[in-house]
Amino acid sequence: MERKKEKLSKAFVNKPSGERRRGRKKVYFFFFWHLLTFNCIVRSGDRCGGKCLSLLIIYRGKQGTSIIFVARQRTVYWLLEFTIDERTGRIYAQRRLDREERPAWRFLVLATDEGGAGLTGFADVLLEVRDINDNAPVFPCPAPDSSGCFVGHVPENSPADTSVMEMRATDLDDHKAGKNAILTYRIVQNVRNEINLNLFSINPSTGTISTVLRSLDREVEDRYLVVVEARDGGGLSGTGTATIMVSDVNDHPPVFTQRVYNVTEDLEVNSEVLAVSASDGDQGENAVVTFSIVGGDEDRKFFVETDKANRRGVVRLKKKMDFEKPHERTFNLTVKAEDADFFSLAYCLVQVEDSNDHAPVFFPQFYEAPAMSEDVSVGTIVAQVTAADLDSGLNGRFSYSIAKESDPYGQFLVDQSGWVVLADSLDREMVSQHRLMVLATDTGNPPLTGTAIVMVTVLDVNDNGPEFEVPYKPIVWENMAAPQVVRINDTSLLLYAADRDSSPNGGPFSIRLLMLTSDATNFNLTDLRNGSAALTTLRTFDRERQKEYRLPILMIDSGSPPMSSTSTLTVVIGDRNDHAHSPGHTDFFVYSYQGMFLQYSADVVTTLLVTVECVRPLEDPHNLFSISGHLSACCYCWKNSGFL
Ligand SMILES: *[C@@H]1O[C@H](CO)[C@@H](O)[C@H](O)[C@H]1NC(C)=O
Ligand SMILES: *[C@@H]1O[C@H](CO)[C@@H](O)[C@H](O)[C@H]1NC(C)=O
Ligand SMILES: *[C@@H]1O[C@H](CO)[C@@H](O)[C@H](O)[C@H]1NC(C)=O
Ligand SMILES: *[C@@H]1O[C@H](CO)[C@@H](O)[C@H](O)[C@H]1NC(C)=O
Ligand SMILES: *[C@@H]1O[C@H](CO)[C@@H](O)[C@H](O)[C@H]1NC(C)=O
Repeated sequence: MERKKEKLSKAFVNKPSGERRRGRKKVYFFFFWHLLTFNCIVRSGDRCGGKCLSLLIIYRGKQGTSIIFVARQRTVYWLLEFTIDERTGRIYAQRRLDREERPAWRFLVLATDEGGAGLTGFADVLLEVRDINDNAPVFPCPAPDSSGCFVGHVPENSPADTSVMEMRATDLDDHKAGKNAILTYRIVQNVRNEINLNLFSINPSTGTISTVLRSLDREVEDRYLVVVEARDGGGLSGTGTATIMVSDVNDHPPVFTQRVYNVTEDLEVNSEVLAVSASDGDQGENAVVTFSIVGGDEDRKFFVETDKANRRGVVRLKKKMDFEKPHERTFNLTVKAEDADFFSLAYCLVQVEDSNDHAPVFFPQFYEAPAMSEDVSVGTIVAQVTAADLDSGLNGRFSYSIAKESDPYGQFLVDQSGWVVLADSLDREMVSQHRLMVLATDTGNPPLTGTAIVMVTVLDVNDNGPEFEVPYKPIVWENMAAPQVVRINDTSLLLYAADRDSSPNGGPFSIRLLMLTSDATNFNLTDLRNGSAALTTLRTFDRERQKEYRLPILMIDSGSPPMSSTSTLTVVIGDRNDHAHSPGHTDFFVYSYQGMFLQYSADVVTTLLVTVECVRPLEDPHNLFSISGHLSACCYCWKNSGFL
């Protein structure tokens, strides 16, 4: 800091180059070696008491601005940084020097003799400011902020000693001078795991933060703060906070949330069987899960759709399932959920539930019961039917019944073992063949029904005697000569017998006229032995004597045993106009009640004798009766019979 006057060299004196005039306000110097400009300021301020002349030269050199101080006589001239004792030549610092602000100073010192009138010497003073440890290490951003300052990123699960980031502090002190700027780093606030081990370490000399263990898990904690201290050789320290972000690595294999799913077998193709969602703790792209079925579906009954938005896999039905097939009751599907790097397999159990998709089925579906005669007793077994239902449980349980429309008279019953029995007597003449519809109805919802047909043929028993084919009422005209074949009706000359039993129990018939009454003696019946007979009159008839003849006719069938029956054939004697018409005459009473029919006396209840006739104009069956006489309003005459 001090240069002796003696060192000043006169060699630099350069008289001719400068013009020096005492008391002058302006002095010009020219330094030939490296000066650029001079500013000469004459100050005559208070500090100098007005009696001194001070000369300030500001020297702008390569290393900045230097102050050149000119000492004159006894006066101490001071300037900004340094002062010089004019007699001793000691140079003093005017104020605290800051090496970090300006590490070196250079200036000229002038020495003049003869009170300034003599020669002048120059000294070039080079002044270096020595460093002291007056600066602590500083981190650029001591507190964590969002600007990304001191933010390090490390993938989760990184191995030990993975470098995370560098923490660099700066120390303004001189790196060359001592250890004032030699920094060592340490972590003063670390993060510990659950067993109290530090998660991070720092390299003391480089400030590089590294992981200690492979135990970072973003899904547990994705951000750590670590406080680092930097200490210089002089013992000053500063701290900074490192923000360590743990970035995502795809380390979470998807996990299914449900394992067992129930579906019914009647599920339609394309409908959703189940939805698997995988929970993946990862983020972003790592969390995109796709699903596929990789096992348990040999028949390709299922397909899976990946619902990316909801991170679900929807398993749908591709083909119908059939609970009745034993290997289609459960499907142990191996579903693979995979994301970018990992996959996981899960076993979803699809349990198929029975649905009522099978009706009971009869085997056989057509039964022909042995023919039974119509006189078999109630309770006789007709047939046994059997049915089976492939479904399970209630869907497979069923009961038998007989369709009402196939058995309108309720003649049959079926029990729960399938025995069809006779519940009421049979009549071949009513129903000769029964076509029973036996039903088996299961207890599913809705119930399903299977049917079988049971044919029951009823055999004839000779339980019916012969009878006339149709009712006959032949007319024989009076006065006709005998023998004469009686026309039985408009279309037939012959009388026909018929039997409701089947042919073995029917004809040929034997037909005979029973001579039980006198009427029968007037006729002759000839059995033609082919179910017909001819009736012949044996005499002439007179209607006015007898109007009709009743003939008992015995008919016997060929059954075994034969059945016979006797029917009465009424023969009407037809009227010919062989008598003059004479009106008939009957007297009878008509009781009049409360004046009805009282046309003659309106105020008394009377018994009147009136004459009303029902008259057939001519004795001819085709002539009709009509009423004649008074009071026709009281009575009605049956036109055919003449009944009043
Ligand atoms: C699936 O069905 C079984 C019986 O087959 C039953 O025990 C279980 O509770 C059902 N599960 C669901 C989710 O319905
Ligand atoms: C499904 O299959 C897997 C792999 O074979 C097996 O481990 C699992 O026990 C099966 N699940 C059932 C319910 O059978
Ligand atoms: C007359 O009798 C025959 C023989 O029985 C029968 O076929 C026919 O239908 C009867 N005609 C009438 C109109 O009753
Ligand atoms: C009735 O007719 C049969 C033949 O058809 C005959 O043999 C018999 O003699 C007749 N009877 C009388 C009483 O005429
Ligand atoms: C029965 O025999 C008579 C006489 O041979 C004949 O006229 C008639 O048509 C026969 N009837 C039947 C149904 O064959």
